[in-house]
Formats: sequence, C-alpha cells, structure tokens
Amino acid sequence: KKIMIIGMPMDLGQMRRGVDMGPSAIRYAGIVERLSSLNYEVHDIGDIHIGRPEISIDQDSKLRNLELIAEKNELLANEVHKAIENGAFPLVFGGDHSIAIGTLAGVSKHYENLGVIWYDAHGDLNTAETSPSGNIHGMPLAASLGLGHPALTQLGGYAPKIKPENVVIIGARALDEGEKVLIKEKGIKVYTMHEIDLIGMTKVIEETIEHFRGRTNHVHLSLDLDGLDPSDAPGVGTPVIGGISYRESHLAMEMLAEASIITSAEFVEVNPILDEKNKTAIAAVALMGSLFGEKLL
Ligand code: ARG
Ligand code: MN
Ligand code: MN
Ligand code: MN
Repeated sequence: KKIMIIGMPMDLGQMRRGVDMGPSAIRYAGIVERLSSLNYEVHDIGDIHIGRPEISIDQDSKLRNLELIAEKNELLANEVHKAIENGAFPLVFGGDHSIAIGTLAGVSKHYENLGVIWYDAHGDLNTAETSPSGNIHGMPLAASLGLGHPALTQLGGYAPKIKPENVVIIGARALDEGEKVLIKEKGIKVYTMHEIDLIGMTKVIEETIEHFRGRTNHVHLSLDLDGLDPSDAPGVGTPVIGGISYRESHLAMEMLAEASIITSAEFVEVNPILDEKNKTAIAAVALMGSLFGEKLL
C-alpha cells in the first residue's frame, strides 16, 4: 500500500501567519518514519510551491487572497489527482483549511459519491455573504458543496465536488448564524460537542460509518486540528475551548482504520508559531498513526 505525502504550506486563508510551517512541523514530528514502520510505501513529494505572494483583497467580493488561493489550490488538486492515479493514498498537510478546496477538487473527480468527514470545531460553511471575517479558511466545505464564489466552487473545472448527504461534521462548537441555516437547509449530518458528550465518540463513529455504508466506498477525512481541545492541540489559529480530547480522537481514528473506509486525508491548521514545543504536530502524527492502523499491542 502506497501513501503520497503532499505538503501545502499556504497561510492565505486566514490572518495568523505561521500555519505555512505546518507541513514542516508534521515532518519534524516524524510522520514518514511512523508510516513507514507500519509497512507503507511512503513517498513524500515535498511542498507545493507557494512562494511569497503579496496579500490582496478581492474588490467586489471582499474575500482575502481569493485569486491566489484558487491558483495555488489548482496546483494541489493536480498533485492529489496524480497520487490517486498512481494508486496511492493522498495525505495532505496544511496549511490553513482553505487547502481542502484543492484537495477535494483532486479527489472527487475520481469518485461518483465521495463521502467527507469534516473533523473540526467549525463548519467552514461560510460564503462571501455569510462570512464574518472574509477568511477563506471558513469556506472550504461550502465551496466544495458548490456554494460561494465561482473562483472557489469551479476549481478544477467542475462543481459541486460533494453532496450534502455525503458529509458528516464532527466536533462542531463554533458555528456562525449563516452556517446553522445552511446545515438545516441542506440537512447536513452534524455531531456537535453536545452529541459527542451525550452519546460518546464510539457511537458517533459507529453511526458515521453506518451512514456511509451502501452510499460510498470512498471517504475523505478533513481533519482540522482545532477540532481537538486547545489543551491537546494548542498550535492552531482559531482555538475553541471545549473540544474533542486526544483520546477520543485516537479512538475515532482507530475505528475508521478498522472500518477501512478512508481513502484520502488532510491534516490542517497546524501552526508551530502558536504551538507548545510542536505538541500539535506531534498529536497530528500520532493520530495519523492510528488512522493507518497502528495498534498499541
Ligand atoms: N467561522 C469563522 C470564519 O468564517 C472561523 C472559521 C475557522 N475555520 C478554520 N478552518 N479554522 O471566519
Ligand atoms: Mn483520473
Ligand atoms: Mn476549525
Ligand atoms: Mn476548519
């Protein structure tokens, strides 16, 4: 089994610099060694070239770095597409969550009914109209559903990438008003922290797996480290207290590994500048170990 690692050092989707160092932090935390020890053939293609582009605000939409984010995400979509064509599991390291627009553009054209697990404190379901910030990292799930600015929704030349009934959000606890409306309108399945507390992570993942059964054999995991509690993952730009614990997250990854439904993944929002001794990248690497089948005994 082959894994293709793709670094996406892009910080243009939000305003806290440093998340462009996420891929390095994850590599320094030993990801290649970790996955190799699980008998995967690991290829690390390095980072997509982002350079030092000048930041800009789109005049009519007011979206921050719209053109640049679209342009760089096209490059990512291409690499992800190539990885799948080569029979590899694409594993993408962010960068802020706006990179999911590129990842999903690359993955989804291979599958009729791609499932998505959005592991996050946020819904990332904003559009230019509903966004409180103008930050595109708050929009990738909406964009992938075909909602929002055409430069984002039409990435890769097609839209939508995913269907609302194939999305499961886990860990939500900071949803904007417009996002709540959209969730209800589209009937998107969401496990907020309330449900996780109430029924436990075991049941949440069992139900998630059950939800995808019969619908699709391909599920993308988009894991925003701010889905975890800031005490376990402090190195993120938009922390929200009261999150999923490190242990619950391991359990989730182990259950997903057991069900073998995940066929692509990304780990995003790791910001080493805001971190405590690379704790967040280390947590990400440990979770990836579990996702790829690591056992304690
Ligand atoms: N909902 C807020 C916004 O639209 C925060 C989004 C945070 N997203 C993230 N990927 N961390 O600005
Ligand atoms: Mn193809
Ligand atoms: Mn988030
Ligand atoms: Mn997010």
